[in-house]
Amino acid sequence: MFDKDFIFGAATAAYQIEGSIDADFKCESIWDRFTKKKENIIDGSDGSVVCDSYRKYKDDVAILHDLGVDAYRFSIAWTRVINEHNEPNLNGINYYVNLCKELINNNIRPIVTLYHWDMPQFLDDLGGFLNDDIVNYFEKYTDIVTKSLNGLVKDYITINEPQCIMFMGHDACMFAPGTKYNDKEMLKAIHNLLKCHGVATKVIRKNVPNSTVGFAPCSRPLVPSYNDKLLEEKCYDKYFTLDRSFEYSNSVSIYSDPIFLGDYPKNYYTDFKDVLPEITKEDLELISQPIDYIYQNIYSGNYYSLDKNSNLVKNDFYAGYPTGNIDWLQVVPQALYYGPKYLYQRYKKPIIISENGFCNVDFISLDGKVHDPQRIDYVNRYLAELEKISKEVPIKGYLYWSLFDNFEWNSGLSKRFGLVYIDYSNGNRIKKDSFYEYKKIIKNRGL
Ligand code: NOJ
Repeated sequence: MFDKDFIFGAATAAYQIEGSIDADFKCESIWDRFTKKKENIIDGSDGSVVCDSYRKYKDDVAILHDLGVDAYRFSIAWTRVINEHNEPNLNGINYYVNLCKELINNNIRPIVTLYHWDMPQFLDDLGGFLNDDIVNYFEKYTDIVTKSLNGLVKDYITINEPQCIMFMGHDACMFAPGTKYNDKEMLKAIHNLLKCHGVATKVIRKNVPNSTVGFAPCSRPLVPSYNDKLLEEKCYDKYFTLDRSFEYSNSVSIYSDPIFLGDYPKNYYTDFKDVLPEITKEDLELISQPIDYIYQNIYSGNYYSLDKNSNLVKNDFYAGYPTGNIDWLQVVPQALYYGPKYLYQRYKKPIIISENGFCNVDFISLDGKVHDPQRIDYVNRYLAELEKISKEVPIKGYLYWSLFDNFEWNSGLSKRFGLVYIDYSNGNRIKKDSFYEYKKIIKNRGL
């Protein structure tokens, strides 16, 4: 059982579910452009229809209501809110106003992500996060959103998974916009991204009474494979160690230390001394304004042990180890114990798991239903660990990723994380077995 005020929810993101990419004067995003090159996406698909949520948002909310969630996390498409002249686009804004009203009428709290990777193409053409002006653009965008949703939304997440934006978008180049940065550019872009977070926090505080603000990185916690104090300490240290790879789901400290601790980690200044961006005291003050939660997306982890010289060694996953239908998703439930434990130890704020979920091989069975026992098993195992750590550190919520099967970035429509199956041939929505399991968990306020 979790606390009475614990938030159970589900999450999605604009480009991954909305479709209608040309509706109501929406401008082009980097994902609209990136998906035009069919070879960028495994199955050649794009976000033009997906779940059709732009038109079916009332159906979405009815599904959420049936699920019984306390909150729904969704993102706003920057490209619907402004036009190419950077002026507000009322048609696009109205979609989110209507969605929020519908949620509130159903007693569901909207948690809004401002940036879930779909930058307006014209801003990327101007340099994206490398352009110092991006901070002003993000400020104006946040101002328009918060004023338009005034009285409807009080919970904001500024930026989702900065590691993916930078590493996947600008190093591995498997995500939009797919332009390679060198180390110097990478650090400058990261710094500007953090300033965007800071300026958005300032605007939210100004415009939204009783707001809550957070930032949602991802991470892959190191799990000690046996109980040992030294091993756990070493796992903690490595979780926050900065390395030069900007690796996908590591780099916790480069993003979160400046926000929560007011500065980059010490070794940032030494290890990167040849490629440092300009960092002023004002920048660090802007970035480190107090926020309310540590949001964190956690799906998997890695097991570690100590060798005979007490060095940390990563344990391999053996063949046949439980894994989702996507290469990085090994089932490591204790990630939801150790991740929150380490994060709280360092940053000392209440924690909300902003994403956790399972990618499965889902299909419609002969009986017309979608049976997904592995997802049910995953959710139960992970929530058991979260319940355990909630006795030691303040855990305030859990948002399952995702409400629907959706557009899984460079994997297109080929990977399914939803509690609700989307039949892409006709748009039908089918509640999977895991939907009913999660509904039961929510009703019982825990396992
Ligand atoms: C992280 C991202 O925030 C989300 O967009 C993605 O679909 C899920 N994880 C699953 O990969």
